[in-house]
Amino acid sequence: MRFYPVDIEERRELGGYTLLSYRWPDGSVQPGQFVMARVAGYPVTLDPFLARPFSFYDHDGEVASLLFEVRGRGTALLDRAPERIEVSAPLGHGFDIGANGTPAALLGGGIGVAPLKILSRHLTARNVRHDIFLGFAEARFAAVAAEFPGSKVATVDGSEGTRGTVLDAVPDLDRYGAVYACGPNPMLAAVKRVAGEDSVCQLSVEERMGCGNGSCNGCVVPVRDGGYVRSCIEGPVFRAEVLAW
Ligand SMILES: Cc1cc2nc3c(=O)[nH]c(=O)nc-3n(C[C@H](O)[C@H](O)[C@H](O)COP(=O)(O)OP(=O)(O)OC[C@H]3O[C@@H](n4cnc5c(N)ncnc54)[C@H](O)[C@@H]3O)c2cc1C
Ligand code: FES
Repeated sequence: MRFYPVDIEERRELGGYTLLSYRWPDGSVQPGQFVMARVAGYPVTLDPFLARPFSFYDHDGEVASLLFEVRGRGTALLDRAPERIEVSAPLGHGFDIGANGTPAALLGGGIGVAPLKILSRHLTARNVRHDIFLGFAEARFAAVAAEFPGSKVATVDGSEGTRGTVLDAVPDLDRYGAVYACGPNPMLAAVKRVAGEDSVCQLSVEERMGCGNGSCNGCVVPVRDGGYVRSCIEGPVFRAEVLAW
């Protein structure tokens, strides 16, 4: 996989998350696509050995941004990268916004809110009416909701918005013709159960990834017809009915 060194244009804290922006004027980005990213210096540093996957938070044609939560070594190093990081070109299959019914519901759980910004931008450009629902553990993370005007928020501890999960903030999910969701697998499985039978429901999975290019099979998800598919190549966005959970 080819990596491109890019200079960080902006670094900002958003709630409990970090937003990193860099120039990416090369072509379009589909909402739901991701990059593999690592701090600059490879192969001198080899730390971490593997780049990490991140959804595009936004891309305006010139500047791309990633929104991430510091979880372990890879994200901690990116968080304090001085000026430059290395990113792959956009990867994977994102949300199919041509196949949607309306109105659309966008649901994000925790850092799963990341791809909803660019998705909302694209839906707005197509005049697709949509509502945004965001779920977080606590108010500290919910601060990012300010970036999603008009969104409805739930927190597990009740410190902001509705108490409960993101689904508690959407009393009527089955009335939406299109549902787009990103978050932990149990949340996605619950969204799949609750979405209307006739709705087009697309889920962005966040499996752990080793290579991001289809060669390690580290990111597979079970599918209904039997067997597994690689979420870095066939996903990370899947139609809900394809997934075996
Ligand atoms: C397609 C895709 C898009 C993603 N988009 C984003 C994004 O926009 N923003 C963001 O912050 N994160 C995103 N992630 C998750 C992100 O890749 C991981 O948080 C990151 O790799 C952790 O690296 P680390 O070295 O900091 O932590 P590690 O040391 O590798 O792990 C630290 C902890 O995080 C857990 N963890 C690591 N990866 C994942 C994962 N994929 N899912 C759930 N738990 C994990 C580990 O089990 C461990 O408990 C995405 C993942 C995928 C597959
Ligand atoms: S991450 Fe290696 S095959 Fe998907």
